Amino acid sequence: MIGFGLAGCGHAARKHAEALRVLQAAGVARLVSAYDPDQRRSEELAREFGAEHDPNLSDLLERDAVQVLAICTPSGLRLPLVEAAAQAGKHLLVEKPMALSLSEADTLIDTCRSAGVILGVVHPHRFQPAVGRLRGALEAGAFGKLTHASALLRWHRPQSYYDASPWRGTTSMDGGLLFNQAIHCLDLLLWTMGPVESASAYLTTRLRRIETEDTAAGIMRFGGGALGVLEASITVYPENLEESLAVFGENGTAVLGGASLKEIVTWRFAGPGEGRVADALPDLPTWRGHAAVIADLCASLLDRRRPLVDGEEARKVLELIVALQESARKGSPVTLAGGG
Ligand SMILES: NC(=O)c1ccc[n+]([C@@H]2O[C@H](COP(=O)([O-])OP(=O)(O)OC[C@H]3O[C@@H](n4cnc5c(N)ncnc54)[C@H](O)[C@@H]3O)[C@@H](O)[C@H]2O)c1
Repeated sequence: MIGFGLAGCGHAARKHAEALRVLQAAGVARLVSAYDPDQRRSEELAREFGAEHDPNLSDLLERDAVQVLAICTPSGLRLPLVEAAAQAGKHLLVEKPMALSLSEADTLIDTCRSAGVILGVVHPHRFQPAVGRLRGALEAGAFGKLTHASALLRWHRPQSYYDASPWRGTTSMDGGLLFNQAIHCLDLLLWTMGPVESASAYLTTRLRRIETEDTAAGIMRFGGGALGVLEASITVYPENLEESLAVFGENGTAVLGGASLKEIVTWRFAGPGEGRVADALPDLPTWRGHAAVIADLCASLLDRRRPLVDGEEARKVLELIVALQESARKGSPVTLAGGG
């Protein structure tokens, strides 16, 4: 059983604690102790999930039973915790976004590499069964020549969501709609279509009183020549409408949708017994979100392999987000270094 410590005991931490409860029952991993500078939060979480809590990070890191530190702090607050944990020989599982700049992402990667510890990053959508089905179709060449793909994020985050936590909607701690919310579907665009060669975007703040954008429109050209479109906003009235990903090629069309890409909406492929939604759906297993991420990290530790999303892999979507932001600032397309 692999022991986890939690740093930061807010909303995301509960997903980790719940996932660890499931994994403890399966004999895979368990929550050992939690730390938050707001001690009431760590005490409450520890009580609810039957774990210990520590008054500061160094006490938590001194525990031999903690092999992995899961970091669930505001997004701009990763580096000092990663440095302390790596120095203590603990492996890392960092919430998305891994960092809010490429230079900080590189420092996190180098720090973990030098210390010989694994750096995993939480991108639960990668483990969606519907997304796995899409990857399988792409790898089998079922789409033929790819033409284009689109990602839609039509979500609702009220002003009260931002007002409740001072870090939300700030440039230095949250990073904005692209870093905080659209990161999931942008990561999937990259994972399905490959590296982006060139990106353009407009970003705007239409309705929320925040420093960062609340609405974004972007276009991309992938390395292979196919095109991509992003439409993202957290201002959709009156509630979350959809998060979807559509991929189009000469022999296939696939659309994943629903509130967070869990449903296969369209599944059409040429060939014998032309694939339809019904063919793609029957044996889709239940999505286990954070539990799947943590289980993969544990397996990577035991098998001495890279987790599905390690620091290098998570850096790719950060590079795209930084390019989209730069394009919006400059008013012209930006060429990406890793565009192939
Ligand atoms: N992967 C996902 O599906 C998902 C979902 C929600 C949030 N997140 C990510 O998780 C992170 C946290 O988001 P949240 O919604 O839980 O925020 P939150 O505000 O609910 O919780 C953050 C917690 O971190 C604590 N904290 C602040 N400074 C700290 C420090 N130096 N050391 C330890 N703890 C510290 C705060 O006291 C707070 O309890 C963000 O990066 C967010 O993007 C990911």
